[in-house]
Amino acid sequence: MSGDIAKFNAAQAALDYVKDGMVVGLGTGSTSAHFVRQLGERVRQGLRVKGVPTSEATRNLAEQVGVPLLEISQITSLDLDVDGADEVDPAFRLIKGGGGALLREKIVAAASKQMVVIADESKWVETLGDFPLPVEVTRFGFALTQHRVTEALRASGCAGDEVVLRITGKSNEPVITDGGNYILDAHAKRIPDPEKLGAALKDIAGVVEHGLFIGLSQVVIIGKAKGAEVKTL
Ligand code: 5RP
Repeated sequence: MSGDIAKFNAAQAALDYVKDGMVVGLGTGSTSAHFVRQLGERVRQGLRVKGVPTSEATRNLAEQVGVPLLEISQITSLDLDVDGADEVDPAFRLIKGGGGALLREKIVAAASKQMVVIADESKWVETLGDFPLPVEVTRFGFALTQHRVTEALRASGCAGDEVVLRITGKSNEPVITDGGNYILDAHAKRIPDPEKLGAALKDIAGVVEHGLFIGLSQVVIIGKAKGAEVKTL
């Protein structure tokens, strides 16, 4: 519960970055959901913004709370992106994709003038890798791609090399992303060189996108039980 209050507080602090007339990327996950709900309240009070959702789940929520939406095909850039993270390090490098939306999240973050990350304190880490790194892969040849991802973890000096196909608890079937792909969770344990690993993953045929977000965020808001701490690079 205290984690949820911290997420709420981080989301609330991110509202300061939203200005009238902006096109805003709407992240995915429980922290982003707090943001979308609070943004909906502001819209009802008269704020004029357009949101670009990073998942179908976020699209549904935004519609419910009355945030007007744009399709990604209607824009060439966004003013702001507000999204959660699974891990954040002191260089503002992120692991994202715990909720499986990393591909759309990265497309939206990369097209945004500013990315504000909202998270509770548990997400702040010295070194990335404790949280399994999500890697979105094509269904075709996924076992082969899984093998290549294992090799990339080893070659990049990661402490772990186990790579598992993400399965849904509900049906015991592989998780299918909004883009129709599978997700591999790479248990790197410790990623000493995120740039090296990210480049190696991008180089593998069958990898659609990986959850290392490097050089994309300029502001990180860490929510606390009371208030939030705003960190900038
Ligand atoms: C979804 C994500 C989320 O931002 C990340 O998983 C954090 O989720 P939460 O805010 O629920 O802790 O990357 O793909």
